Amino acid sequence: PDVSLPHPPRRLPVLGDVLGVHVATPVQDSIRLARELGPIFERVVLGNRFVVVSGVDLVADLNDETRFTKHLAPAVAGLRSIGGDGLFTAYSDEPNWRKAHDLLRPAFTQAAMRTYHDTMVRVAGELLSHWRTRDRVDVSADMTKLTLETIGRTAFSYSFDSFTRTERHPFVGAMVRTLTHNQRRAVIKVPVLSDLWFRDRDRRNEQDKAYLARVIDDIVRTRRDHGVGAENDLLDIMLTAARDADPNALDEVNIRHQILTFLIAGHETTSGALSFALYYLSRDPELWERARAEIDEVWGDEPPTFERVAKARLVRRILDEALRLWPTAPGYAREALTDTEIGNGYRMRTGDWAMVLIPGLHRDPVWGENTDEFDPDRFLSAAVRSRPAQAYKPFGTGERACIGRQFALHEAMIVLGTVLQNVDVRPDPDYRLRVEERLTLMPTGFEVQVSPRAR
Ligand code: HEM
Repeated sequence: PDVSLPHPPRRLPVLGDVLGVHVATPVQDSIRLARELGPIFERVVLGNRFVVVSGVDLVADLNDETRFTKHLAPAVAGLRSIGGDGLFTAYSDEPNWRKAHDLLRPAFTQAAMRTYHDTMVRVAGELLSHWRTRDRVDVSADMTKLTLETIGRTAFSYSFDSFTRTERHPFVGAMVRTLTHNQRRAVIKVPVLSDLWFRDRDRRNEQDKAYLARVIDDIVRTRRDHGVGAENDLLDIMLTAARDADPNALDEVNIRHQILTFLIAGHETTSGALSFALYYLSRDPELWERARAEIDEVWGDEPPTFERVAKARLVRRILDEALRLWPTAPGYAREALTDTEIGNGYRMRTGDWAMVLIPGLHRDPVWGENTDEFDPDRFLSAAVRSRPAQAYKPFGTGERACIGRQFALHEAMIVLGTVLQNVDVRPDPDYRLRVEERLTLMPTGFEVQVSPRAR
């Protein structure tokens, strides 16, 4: 039988469930709503209907690849004007998705991480040098510098000079503005009024997009000037395939979409993950010391070799747990390929879709009580085995899951380990975690005092 879904109690005509809704924090509002309304609920905002799912059994159904595929939720569809049919914003049946996936997948296996290892270690070293020159740092801002630098250099052999410039690179501002703008534009659709309201912002957005296009031009031109094929990075893989008429060759326009996609998808989320992990670590001196002792044992006082990175098991659990509480890409949408049903009787017709609220899933009762508490022991093997596999999905699901998972984990482990190995941090005791929402989740206002490790 069809069931009508729970929804927030006070519903307004036209506007819908906007009472108690904050434009700036839809994810945190939804986490609260999931707690009140249960594992599946409905929210209607300005004519858009969202079915929000966080119960593990329901999510397991949505993750079934025979019945569901990735759906582009309105906010993600709004990003097509930036990412086009690049990997993240492509529809699964677009030919360029399969081609790009097959072409680039080999560059993201665990073994391929060896290629990026030295650059990742070098950039982590640059973070340390940067921190040596100051005693107070904004963690999220510096993690963003670091991850942008890492993806720029590993994937495109292109430096944003993140640690040598005084202001953040203008790419970051343009990117954040255009991401936010295009998502809002796609969701807030009131005839005439929207166009008036957005007029100045639309103009600014055109300037931002033109700027991003110039950065991409610069990346491609620099490579053509230096010769294609010598770097063997992501850019070379795409440009040589095009040159050699490989069956998976991508056209020029699509290559540009992929560059922007990787620059964006390849750094925001990892930056947030690192910032959350450092937030929890910095507030727990006992955990900090245990993690540091592990790094001393498995890395010694040298930068890590490739093989030693993954040996820091506690550091990995800290990252896993940070991504449980704050999966920095907080949702993904699934669309029915056929008329079907999820859970105990919620019917979906072909084309119907639902949002998986990942932070909600990660607080499902299978995680026990106190799901808001940070506890890396949840990722000890016995505990992992005791839970359904579908309970933890920070990197999405199925074929359209994150291609950069190994990349993000390898990079983040190097950075956390390097910080533990070399630096003491002192957080502001009055700071309480505040989470900013854009496309991703990110701690905001999180500053720490840094000093060289006391030996
Ligand atoms: C897709 C999360 C890091 C590139 C995704 C998806 C999630 C995700 C949840 C699926 C989205 C959906 O189904 O709509 C994360 C998290 C990261 C991270 C939490 C860091 C902690 C990275 C990195 C890269 C990357 C480092 C690149 C170097 C991509 C791409 C896709 C994707 C290209 C689209 C894949 C496809 O649809 O074929 N990511 N990601 N991500 N991610 Fe990541």
